[in-house]
Amino acid sequence: MILLGIESSCDETAAAVVRDGRHVLSSVIHSQIASHRPYGGVVPEIASRAHVGAFPVVTAAAMEQAGIAWRDLDAIAVTHGPGLVSSLLIGLSGARALGQALGKPVWGVNHIEAHLAGMFLAPAAPAPDAACPLLALMVSGGHTCLVEMTAVGQYRILGQTLDDAAGECLDKGANLLGLGYPGGPAIERAAQGGHPDYVHFPRGLEHARHRTTDNGLAIDMCFSFSGLKTALLYHLKKHPEELDGHRADLAASYQQAVMDSLAQRVERALAVTGARTLACVGGVAKNALLRGKLEALARRHSATLILTPLAYCTDNAAMVAAAAGLRVLAGLDNPPALEADPSLPLVGE
Ligand code: KG4
Ligand code: ZN
Repeated sequence: MILLGIESSCDETAAAVVRDGRHVLSSVIHSQIASHRPYGGVVPEIASRAHVGAFPVVTAAAMEQAGIAWRDLDAIAVTHGPGLVSSLLIGLSGARALGQALGKPVWGVNHIEAHLAGMFLAPAAPAPDAACPLLALMVSGGHTCLVEMTAVGQYRILGQTLDDAAGECLDKGANLLGLGYPGGPAIERAAQGGHPDYVHFPRGLEHARHRTTDNGLAIDMCFSFSGLKTALLYHLKKHPEELDGHRADLAASYQQAVMDSLAQRVERALAVTGARTLACVGGVAKNALLRGKLEALARRHSATLILTPLAYCTDNAAMVAAAAGLRVLAGLDNPPALEADPSLPLVGE
């Protein structure tokens, strides 16, 4: 089964060809970072216009690099949510036009499910059947949650952020530190050589216990990052001179606080669920400090660790084709890609 995957939910236009849900024949990503950098974040209007221009180029390149003909495709898989609606619509319209012209089915893929499928793209990763049940930390610019995956298509959210996503927190922190966009890699670079204990920034909800959120999640498996961002803001107001002499120390302290918050929750969830396999997916999964902390945690809890390959952490289309392919192999349907849903939930509501 050969699928063309298409991703346009935010600021990357991507296309990829994947065989049997796991074997990447090509993966092409057009990043718009340079267009959004002057504004310090993604501008939806600029993003959707850039998707229009990049879509034909990226899809043609993915097909050429895969070395297959259009007729060899079994179906097209496209992200239909969650994401920016004006960006989702471009990928969706392009995919539907291709499907019409080629006479191939067009399936809608959930972006979070796609990130989860990305963990299986390492050649050495176990198959989903062997890896499940597993506990996954999903950390990106738009989402931060802990997911229990019992099988392909079967997910339960154990905890999620009550405010900002971890990547968003890094992006906002980098902005305050004058480090540019995107903030995650900028903070990681700036933190090299800095002292992570220079300032002790708060770890959100650190002492919250025995409560549930309005939607019934245990508070000690949830995340909060808005206080951390505010703490950095006030610290810089009080000590503006540190931006010159101690930028690396501040970046390292801030990065440490974000990754500690994530690791604490993962440790709690490992203890509560007794999961034997731990995985990490999403753009922030690229972070070396986080990867190291999860390695240590997995060792301590004798759990198998699946880290998404670096090439498939941030948004890409291989994970989209993989998600649809894994569903087919598991005997599940993929929904027809009819409309964009900016707040599509991972778990049916
Ligand atoms: O998964 P992704 O590409 O898009 C969303 O679905 O949101 O994640 C983007 C996020 C951004 O917030 C970016 O700052 C963060 O991933 N990120 C990183 C690193 N590379 C990207 N965060 C920490 N360390 C990195 N090396
Ligand atoms: Zn994403």
